[in-house]
Amino acid sequence: MTTKTVSSKSIDLKKDVPLKKLAVIGAGKLGEGLLSGVLGSQLVPISHVVATVAHEPRADYLAEKYGIRAGTDNREAVTGADLVLVCLKPQQVRGFLQEVRKDLRKEALLISAAASVTTAFIERELPFSARVVRAMPNTPCLIRQGMIALARGQYATPADLSVANRVFSSMGRTVVVDEKHMDAITGLSASGPAYVYTIIESLAEGGVKLGLPRELSTELSAQTLLGASALVLQSGEHPAKLKDMVTTPAGCTIDGLLELEEGGLRVTLIKAVVRAAERARQLVESQNSKQSPAAKQNSGTCDE
Ligand SMILES: NC(=O)c1ccc[n+]([C@@H]2O[C@H](COP(=O)([O-])OP(=O)(O)OC[C@H]3O[C@@H](n4cnc5c(N)ncnc54)[C@H](OP(=O)(O)O)[C@@H]3O)[C@@H](O)[C@H]2O)c1
Repeated sequence: MTTKTVSSKSIDLKKDVPLKKLAVIGAGKLGEGLLSGVLGSQLVPISHVVATVAHEPRADYLAEKYGIRAGTDNREAVTGADLVLVCLKPQQVRGFLQEVRKDLRKEALLISAAASVTTAFIERELPFSARVVRAMPNTPCLIRQGMIALARGQYATPADLSVANRVFSSMGRTVVVDEKHMDAITGLSASGPAYVYTIIESLAEGGVKLGLPRELSTELSAQTLLGASALVLQSGEHPAKLKDMVTTPAGCTIDGLLELEEGGLRVTLIKAVVRAAERARQLVESQNSKQSPAAKQNSGTCDE
């Protein structure tokens, strides 16, 4: 088994792993979502949380909005921290690790959400056997409806995984996977919201074509995806069986499905996931290798 769900209730951050200091490094879109989730679930007292960003005005905004300590000094932020959440862009991770390698506590747990940055890469950059958990979230985390995959590095313990699970379950649904699946997960659930928005938009265009007001059409389309998704997760039924429930013999839906088959929707979506996963793999390879300037120019970032 490579995939399982860890009970988020199994660990109480306040009682079982009382955190003296939580540092959120790179509190941008994702980092702020995490901050908000962690503070909203009261997993850690506000006074124990510190966040860093690159620019002072953003730090001031975070300090004012959340009442936490926020600044631009990563070394100060990680000093004494027992949990460090790294939410930096992938290309900023190496510089951060080099900057703080002497200040990080050996006992600290590092959770990195940076796409395409492996636990082995982080372990190699640090002068001790760092406990690292890698997370791959997606944008619905911002409204606590995210999908987050977690994988542990070679020195992280099952308890570390439970801590990561507790933190990320404040942002959505979590699964624990073998790290080898992270590229596929990037192509599916991390990039996936973009595919789904395209589908929502296209269905809504269908409604508009038939004369429905655009706002109504978008609402109908988005709620249809939300409801259908919830039915898959709650019923545990195979999607094909749920599709059959909608498809009355000689009814309307089968005509619509025929159009989808002719347009190659399935194959297109399968190829989209595969292509995005391939790109994620390329980015991992370029992170891990010493790059030539030309390769660096073409390395890009994974924008999940
Ligand atoms: N967004 C998502 O839903 C999502 C999903 C999966 C994975 N991820 C991963 O999460 C990471 C962050 O993505 P994002 O969308 O949140 O990006 P983002 O909004 O650009 O956030 C990056 C943050 O890092 C800060 N920063 C830059 N250099 C720094 C440094 N040296 N020290 C401390 N902070 C620094 C920036 O500060 P300033 O704001 O002051 O410039 C910014 O707030 C990426 O690796 C991405 O692959 C994101």
